[in-house]
Amino acid sequence: MRYKLLLPVGIALFWSLVTTGNALADATEATANRMLAMTHMGKAFKQLSLELRRGNNADMLLVEQNLEVLAGNAELVDALFDVNEIPSMSEASPLIWEQRPAFSAASEALVEAIKLLSVKIEAGDRTGSKNAVRAVNGACSTCHQNFRVHTN
Ligand code: HEC
Repeated sequence: MRYKLLLPVGIALFWSLVTTGNALADATEATANRMLAMTHMGKAFKQLSLELRRGNNADMLLVEQNLEVLAGNAELVDALFDVNEIPSMSEASPLIWEQRPAFSAASEALVEAIKLLSVKIEAGDRTGSKNAVRAVNGACSTCHQNFRVHTN
């Protein structure tokens, strides 16, 4: 399961790196990869949430595809911060490496929240999915509050 997801995510990251414009031009590979994984999660989560809100009209294939991108990248979050570096364009907080177990726990909380969302979606549980989306959003926000510094 894990490795099945890693390959497409790796390819997605690679192609994004090749095709992404200037914002990341000066980033080191490690920082670019972690920022891109976040960007992929942001887009996938947004699309998934919007689609689910369409209720009966939701395109479930689109939901599944975005869920896979979200889950695949979430699995990588902890490892993507193995390299301790904060180049100027990065919003990473030094606390990530000073409080690594807490950061890892926050990464794991996201993975678990996405698993629950997946269960609720598979079950066709509308209310459960809505609550699970909220919980995933909470997992993103909690980590950002603790470990992301807003530079603008
Ligand atoms: C375990 C911690 C953690 C979790 C969980 C997390 N993030 Fe992040 N996120 C970060 C950190 C740290 C940064 C800043 C990285 C940097 O700039 O080097 C970041 C940056 C971002 C960015 C900006 C990327 C950029 O190019 O500047 C987006 C978008 C983002 N996260 C979306 C999400 C979404 C959506 C989720 C949940 C589905 C999520 N994140 C979950 C830690 C986390």
